[in-house]
Amino acid sequence: MHVTTAGQKKQQRELWGKASVAWDLHHDWLETQFGGISQWLCDAAAIAPAMRVLDLACGTGEPAVTAAGRVGPNGRVTATDLSPEMKAATSRRVKRLGLDVDVLVMDAERLEFADAAFDAVTCRFGLMFCANPVGAAAEIYRVLKPGGHFAVAVWDEPALNPFLSSLMELVNRFVPPQAPEANAPGAFRLSPPGELARVLNAGGFNEFKVEQQAFTMHYASPDEYWEIQSSIAAPVLAAISTLAEPETEQLRAAVLDFAAAHVVDGQVCLGATALTATGMR
Ligand SMILES: C[S@@+](CC[C@H](N)C(=O)[O-])C[C@H]1O[C@@H](n2cnc3c(N)ncnc32)[C@H](O)[C@@H]1O
Repeated sequence: MHVTTAGQKKQQRELWGKASVAWDLHHDWLETQFGGISQWLCDAAAIAPAMRVLDLACGTGEPAVTAAGRVGPNGRVTATDLSPEMKAATSRRVKRLGLDVDVLVMDAERLEFADAAFDAVTCRFGLMFCANPVGAAAEIYRVLKPGGHFAVAVWDEPALNPFLSSLMELVNRFVPPQAPEANAPGAFRLSPPGELARVLNAGGFNEFKVEQQAFTMHYASPDEYWEIQSSIAAPVLAAISTLAEPETEQLRAAVLDFAAAHVVDGQVCLGATALTATGMR
């Protein structure tokens, strides 16, 4: 079935709205795993005191919160997300932290900002979920000041990300995926060789570098792997919600077996690889 761009966007808003509960609940765990990527993005985008920074698809607040710590009182960070629930979670977080960050519901493909409004733009694990990533890249280009830096992270190929791809394979045994649509939003959409560079080029960027960042995801136990990964991966959460109780239990048992086979020194350890891109307008 063909889904229109507007339909894809609606799906994404709903999927991430539902997953926002788990993202909020597991925010600290997520930052233990992905905090290094936030630091890398802020370094790569050369975020410094007094800058005006835009974070796209901020989810529950990263790397916007990390950027806010860097720009200081004379700078300003604006965090945006398509999902009102994610936006609300980020608003609560920045309030709790006493940070003065603007948090807005906004589609990364239709930014409501003037041209050249920002010194730096970041996006951690969001670009591949945009219905039209080229549109989002073009918007990043438009709102950056000439000479301003962007830094984005997406997932590399499934084989390099067993923490997620193996779970998806197990889920697909119970919930056969619908006929995949070419270029539909998804975790691995920008992972094929050259695809991230193609999208950035098409968005207007000529000066940028794409790199791999490999790291290990840690879970305290197989149960924690199931609990966290089945609830934060929005498409996995949606697929599981279609299963009856006995099937969910069978899937859970298969996932626990998989996770148990990857215990090292008492923790479940699974590989992850991000593709990062950074450059200048
Ligand atoms: C995997 S989460 C990443 C959240 C956060 N940046 C992080 O790394 O913790 C992906 C986010 O992309 C958002 N998203 C999806 N499509 C979007 C769009 N077109 N514009 C803005 N945000 C979008 C979702 O709502 C979700 O919060």
